[in-house]
Amino acid sequence: MRCRILGAPEQDGAGVLGCEMGPSALRTAGLIPALIELGHEVEDLGTVQPTATQPITHRNPALKALPEIVAWTAAIAEAAYQASKDAMPIFLGGDHAISAGTLSGIARRAAETGRPLFVLWLDAHPDFHTLDTTASGNLHGVPLAYACGLPGFTGVFPDLTVRVEPTRICTLGLRSVDAAERQALNEAGVTVHDMRAIDEHGIAPLLRAFLARVAAENGLLHVSLDVDFLDPSIAPAVGTTVPGGATLREAHLVMEMLSDSGLVTSLDLVELNPFLDERGRTATLMVDLTASLMGRRIMDRPTRSF
Ligand code: ARG
Ligand code: MN
Ligand code: MN
Repeated sequence: MRCRILGAPEQDGAGVLGCEMGPSALRTAGLIPALIELGHEVEDLGTVQPTATQPITHRNPALKALPEIVAWTAAIAEAAYQASKDAMPIFLGGDHAISAGTLSGIARRAAETGRPLFVLWLDAHPDFHTLDTTASGNLHGVPLAYACGLPGFTGVFPDLTVRVEPTRICTLGLRSVDAAERQALNEAGVTVHDMRAIDEHGIAPLLRAFLARVAAENGLLHVSLDVDFLDPSIAPAVGTTVPGGATLREAHLVMEMLSDSGLVTSLDLVELNPFLDERGRTATLMVDLTASLMGRRIMDRPTRSF
């Protein structure tokens, strides 16, 4: 497969500084050699530069770094649109606000292909706040709502060319959901498999059902992997740790099933904060998970197993 790597060292969307170093840490942990080793053709597009910031006022006084996030979103959306032409883009965050840009750029590209875009959101959080409902004001809490065209972004964030259809989103691993997000997720019809569901059913059947849907509709699949999807005991390098996350085995299984499905067409690796890491172990894990997603196997398997 042809992959395009794009660094998006955005950090103002998170409450804790340090995600700016995320792309460097993923590169240092050997992301590109791992992809080449797996036989992929890798084109490194370097680092996205945000557009110039404009002053913006907003009725919600809690919002942090709004002009910066808007500037990043515009630049990343255009870069994502360009990078997704005839290749699989891999976006290196940066905090999760980068997905406001990656999702809107990918949605615009998907519309041109005529195939429906599906999103797998691997995260402790849904990031489904609007600019009016976020209490923390950290804008990494809004990208999914923005990409779906929820109210209140118009005239503040860049206009969406094409919105993501909420009923084609599956969130997996949620365990920290604010009241306004819970209501918005239900109203929008997003599929939510929280940690309770994973405990009850196991992660594989939940993912398998979603992948079967994507395959049945000949969809494109964008995967957004937030470090905090993983349990903090294996992935400490994130500013928003929540106990009770995916285990190492669950996370690799998800990646292997995604690989077997052959459905993934774009990927975000977000929220890695190297300042909080322990000798690079989280960066290394994120690279290992990406390798599983891109075809690394313990043993060959005779059939597609998703
Ligand atoms: N819901 C919380 C908030 O709005 C946490 C968001 C965490 N998002 C993330 N991408 N880590 O502040
Ligand atoms: Mn997130
Ligand atoms: Mn999160």
